[in-house]
Amino acid sequence: MSAVSNKHPASARRAAALTGHGRLPGDKSISHRALILASLATGTSHIRGLLEGDDVLATAQAMRAMGAAIEKHENGIWRVNGVGPMGLKSPTAPLDFGNAGTGVRLVMGLVAGAGIEAEFIGDASLSSRPMGRVLDPLRQMGAQAEAAEGGRLPVRIKAAPLLPASITPDVASAQVKSAILLAGLGIAGDISVCEKTATRGHSETMLALFGADISVTDEDGFHIVTLHNRQGPSRLTARDLDVPGDPSSAAFPMIAALTVPGSDVVLENVMLNRQRDGLIRVLREMGGDISMTHKRQSSGETVADLRVRYSALHGLDVAADIAPDMIDEFPALAIAAASAQGTTHMAGLAELRVKESDRLAAMEAGLKANGVTVEAGEDWLRVTGSGPNPSIAGGGMVETHHDHRIAMAFLCLGLVAEQAVSVDDRAMIATSFPEFFTLMATLGAQID
Ligand code: S3P
Repeated sequence: MSAVSNKHPASARRAAALTGHGRLPGDKSISHRALILASLATGTSHIRGLLEGDDVLATAQAMRAMGAAIEKHENGIWRVNGVGPMGLKSPTAPLDFGNAGTGVRLVMGLVAGAGIEAEFIGDASLSSRPMGRVLDPLRQMGAQAEAAEGGRLPVRIKAAPLLPASITPDVASAQVKSAILLAGLGIAGDISVCEKTATRGHSETMLALFGADISVTDEDGFHIVTLHNRQGPSRLTARDLDVPGDPSSAAFPMIAALTVPGSDVVLENVMLNRQRDGLIRVLREMGGDISMTHKRQSSGETVADLRVRYSALHGLDVAADIAPDMIDEFPALAIAAASAQGTTHMAGLAELRVKESDRLAAMEAGLKANGVTVEAGEDWLRVTGSGPNPSIAGGGMVETHHDHRIAMAFLCLGLVAEQAVSVDDRAMIATSFPEFFTLMATLGAQID
């Protein structure tokens, strides 16, 4: 069968006011890290609220293939029996990460520092993404890694001793930082990552929760995260964790509620983290009515329920320096901008070219196909909105290029467009937000 006939399209049409409550599934970044660290720890960890998306399940499968015992219990809690320090074994088959960039990059770091060898493969989208950003710093630490042309998958990492190092990555990337720290777990000595721009700190927070000796400082304009291994490789101890809800998934019902007239919804269990809440800050500046209740702590992170009400949004210049704090949220922001009064200019978007798809190109093409005025440059996007009485034509078919967030974003555009908006493939939504269709239906949006 051809790839085209395997696609499963979906369409969304104009919705009446969205109302009610929806609970967000577990955060994808935290879910990957919880499985990885629990697999390395001594003892049994219990993980509640794990995201059961395909990306995270691929990481679970990889950790099993290296010796961890991971199973889901009837009560929905995942139990992980870790292998203990330096207890990972080389997998007998290639580790297949499907669409999961975070999974593959973090586990590459882990394998490099674990004295084992493994081959890494993935789907067409993952196989086109750059891995050199992770392999180069790992090589600086002594890793032996081979990649296909252009630093792409398949990648093979061979057993080699790593040395302490202080590394300044070229790109602002939590995946790169995390791969270096995970490689550092197997080193006798310190490993430091010096970030020019701080990226999401979930790895360092969770490493500390599992008992690793981590310090975080800001010096001379750098955000420095150091893993100290004063007595040989790090020893992690099993923990019980509650995974907070994913703000990157919350982005879609949030922009739907802000743009569909009359909406008033509550999104429960959303993680609030300074390096993840850029979209909320930007939408509020655009006039979005988003309030927070029941703020609480959950496994080292802050969580709240968000009340989101329909708002007359206005355009905004979104500065480049906020981009790392909302790097996955630009598809959602571009859709909100299409309903705003005036122009929204988004800068600092070079990284969007190497996400699950070339997101800048996919957003530009999808918006144009639905009658929205848009312009894109090498690292920026400018969307001119229709104002509070939306007159977005819709009627377009959007190519998603194996990208879950492009699919969800454009289905949200359909909720405010005159004609239905279609996406060529809904299948990838299961990588990060399997409950998307159910949650949107709970709020009153029919997407099929
Ligand atoms: C992630 C980091 C981000 C983000 C990705 C998840 C993580 O990638 O886009 O979806 O969990 O560390 P980069 O670190 O490459 O920016």
